[in-house]
Amino acid sequence: FFRNNFLFKMPGMLLGQVVPNFDAETSEGKINFHEWLATPLPGREKSWTVMVSHPADFTPVCTTELGGLQKASTEFFKRNVKLIAMSCDDVESHIGWIKDIKSYNALDSFSYPIIADPKRVVANLYGMMDPDEVDAKGLPLTCRAVFVIDENKKLKLSILYPATTGRNVPEILRVIDSLKLTVEKKVATPVNWKDGDKCMVIPSVKPDEAKILFPEHKVTQVPSGKEYLRLT
Ligand code: BEZ
Repeated sequence: FFRNNFLFKMPGMLLGQVVPNFDAETSEGKINFHEWLATPLPGREKSWTVMVSHPADFTPVCTTELGGLQKASTEFFKRNVKLIAMSCDDVESHIGWIKDIKSYNALDSFSYPIIADPKRVVANLYGMMDPDEVDAKGLPLTCRAVFVIDENKKLKLSILYPATTGRNVPEILRVIDSLKLTVEKKVATPVNWKDGDKCMVIPSVKPDEAKILFPEHKVTQVPSGKEYLRLT
């Protein structure tokens, strides 16, 4: 769609795609995103990334969200996941706002970069624009996106929230737990699953294979007689 002579492209990326590369200024200096993704957390060989966008700096809900992510940074570290944020504000704005985030959330430090995207290049590449949310000049702003990116730069999960709904940090950690588990094991995680709960054997696993992979799994009988509800 067009607004103020800008072309905005929707929608964004497909799961499994290598995420687009870009060069950008951040609150911690210039980055090439693919190089940044390939730089692991200290002591790790390769790391995953959670990239989040927010509508604007110096807004209330965003201040709680970026603070909430920082408060959970040890949980992200435990899961070997790096954090990076972005919005259409410039670097000076991000650096000024980080002081407010630290103050409001009583933080000693703020340890992840915020990408500056005033020209909406990254926002367009990643399909993050929210046409309903505009700045003082009438230009669209980014929604509250969550992208989980694996060590091969592939998109594992994408969730888009509108500006009026702040995100839930435990939910982001929960989906990372599910994604990491289901990469390793032939299981899928059911409704409201959390780490340690039972999982479902995925439908592509034949009964004989299920007996070998999950010797203690239990099949729940249902009226259809189909044995697809296999808890392990
Ligand atoms: C907020 O962060 O509070 C916010 C930002 C843009 C629109 C609505 C709320």
